[in-house]
Amino acid sequence: MPIRSIDAATPSVNTGIGFMNDHLVIAIDGPAASGKGTLGRRLARQLGLMHLDTGLSYRAVAHALLMAGAELDDEAAAEQAARTLSMDSFDKNTLSSHEIGNAASKVATYSGVRTILVEKQRAFANTPPGAVLDGRDIGTVVCPDACVKFFITASPEERARRRFQEERGKGKHVEYEAILADIRARDERDSNRADSPLKPAEDAHLLDTSKMDIETAFEAVLAIVNRARHA
Ligand code: C5P
Repeated sequence: MPIRSIDAATPSVNTGIGFMNDHLVIAIDGPAASGKGTLGRRLARQLGLMHLDTGLSYRAVAHALLMAGAELDDEAAAEQAARTLSMDSFDKNTLSSHEIGNAASKVATYSGVRTILVEKQRAFANTPPGAVLDGRDIGTVVCPDACVKFFITASPEERARRRFQEERGKGKHVEYEAILADIRARDERDSNRADSPLKPAEDAHLLDTSKMDIETAFEAVLAIVNRARHA
């Protein structure tokens, strides 16, 4: 079985968001292109829950700065952009590029931006009937009381290969080596920032999808969720 529980120490904050009555919250964290987004979407569809790709909220802040001609290191402008965001209406096509992902990981280092976005993400998770949220800090910060937590990972080479194929599929001329370098730089920034670094919650199930197709990964996470729901 590729999934195992891991025991990195993580403080728990009681936000009251978890599995009460019929309200179900599932947290999925992991680095870029690990497969967490696809798994989150499919789980939400299967379980009749809402889905929030929290990376889109950081991407939207970065995109707003770029569109306004502001610098990515303008924290006040980034906070202002975060305040005006709604968690229900992201233009995925505009936000999905690799460049916006890199810009997002810069604005995601600002604590002021994180505080504003985390509050909105928690409100989303708190809305009945519950939700699947994916990101970097869902199990550790946004929803520490989630019913089930996953940490999805894959080797940097495999994640770069997936991103490369995705971008080429959209007709973009990208180089594998450049994407791999970006993925490594993003991992480094996301894992080492002071506020809410990328790391597994102590009670997360770890899944390495490097050698796994998405069907196999989905069956594995669904089995764990079903066990937790019926425990
Ligand atoms: O998941 P995605 O690649 O769209 O995320 C873009 C960037 O947003 C990440 O590299 C990360 O820096 C930031 N992010 C975050 N916390 C989240 C989701 C994303 O810091 N919960």
